[in-house]
Amino acid sequence: MEKTILVTGGAGYIGSHTCVELLESGYQVVVIDNLSNSSAEALERVFTISGKKPIFIEGDVRNRALLDKIFVDFPIDAVIHFAGLKAVGESCQMPLAYYDNNINSTLTLCQAMEQAGVKNLVFSSSATVYGDPETLPLTEDMPLSATNPYGRSKLIIEEMLRDLPEADAITQSATPWAVILLRYFNPVGAHKTGLIGEDPKDIPNNLMPFIAQVAVKRREYLSIYGDDYDTIDGTGVRDYIHVVDLAKGHVCAVENLLGSSPITGVDAINLGSGDGVSVLQMVSTFAEINQIPVPYQIAPRRSGDIAACYANACKAKKLLNWQTQLSVTDMVKDTWHWQSKNPMGYTV
Ligand code: NAD
Ligand code: UFG
Repeated sequence: MEKTILVTGGAGYIGSHTCVELLESGYQVVVIDNLSNSSAEALERVFTISGKKPIFIEGDVRNRALLDKIFVDFPIDAVIHFAGLKAVGESCQMPLAYYDNNINSTLTLCQAMEQAGVKNLVFSSSATVYGDPETLPLTEDMPLSATNPYGRSKLIIEEMLRDLPEADAITQSATPWAVILLRYFNPVGAHKTGLIGEDPKDIPNNLMPFIAQVAVKRREYLSIYGDDYDTIDGTGVRDYIHVVDLAKGHVCAVENLLGSSPITGVDAINLGSGDGVSVLQMVSTFAEINQIPVPYQIAPRRSGDIAACYANACKAKKLLNWQTQLSVTDMVKDTWHWQSKNPMGYTV
């Protein structure tokens, strides 16, 4: 029988790409999203791509009554929890909003899941939980820390979720929690159709959407934050992952949870490529592959940034049989396809 997945934040950047992959893998999808950072148009386009419609409920994950109704109305087998606020700089200015949204939404969701007896969860964590790492590549057992309220909210949620199987053991629960914490590295790119992609509401904080907006002439030039790091060319190095690979990682996680030998308790898994790419390398690849200029200026370092960060992605391969398939060339090509087809994002 068709399995049903509840996707919180499913209208967002990573959520919409994951909806496509879930629908194309034969899952029924129910989305809850308050559209605070997204557009319902993304879900229309998910339908155009996959030929299947996700069921959409507009609302807030902190609304317990609404969640309870969803678990009564639909035979949910597992939940993927994307909903949350994600801008590091903004989190420093409004920490309470971040703790409220990110932590309370997870708390309310878990309470509703427990009441409904649905205890399979995939949670959107982040490489930010490794803080400023001492050694690279990053393995899941390395020390965790937070350098800003956004990162701290992810860390607190990871710790909170770790308490749930402990309670199952004490109460000898017949339906124990199975939770996969997916720690994403740097998601970029867009669906190959150019129909869905990243659509920042304000000035982009992240590198790739900024490059794309410079290329489409919405912004004059890119500021490269620092060229004096101890890296290949002095600019920051990150592990970029194509959003479609990332979305497929979620399908693999759900398959693990609903399969014959699921993980037990809570397990953290890196989703990254394992390769480090510098800012200058990304800018020149974008310009060369797409044959479009990307003017830039070197600016001072951005506060809170680290020099380099990339994953050891072996655990994902071993436990989920997942690894990245798309290259940096695919990332820049698909980003430009989306941006040039939708210069103002979903706003037409
Ligand atoms: P996004 O903002 O595009 O998507 C989040 C979605 O959740 C949006 O559609 C928003 O409207 C919705 N939402 C927010 N709060 C809600 C609430 N209380 N109730 C209902 N809906 C709510 O972000 P994204 O890039 O798709 O990120 C998804 C998840 O992945 C987030 O939890 C984010 O922290 C995490 N993550 C993202 C990145 C990244 O670089 N994009 C990296 C690591 C982790
Ligand atoms: N950068 C620039 N100019 C810009 C934007 C970024 O030079 O306009 C540089 C940064 O200094 C960094 C690199 O590009 O060296 C990547 O920066 P991003 O802002 O794209 O990504 P971060 O690695 O800083 O952070 C992202 C998400 C976090 C998440 C983290 C790990 O924003 O939420 O990846 O997953 F936690």
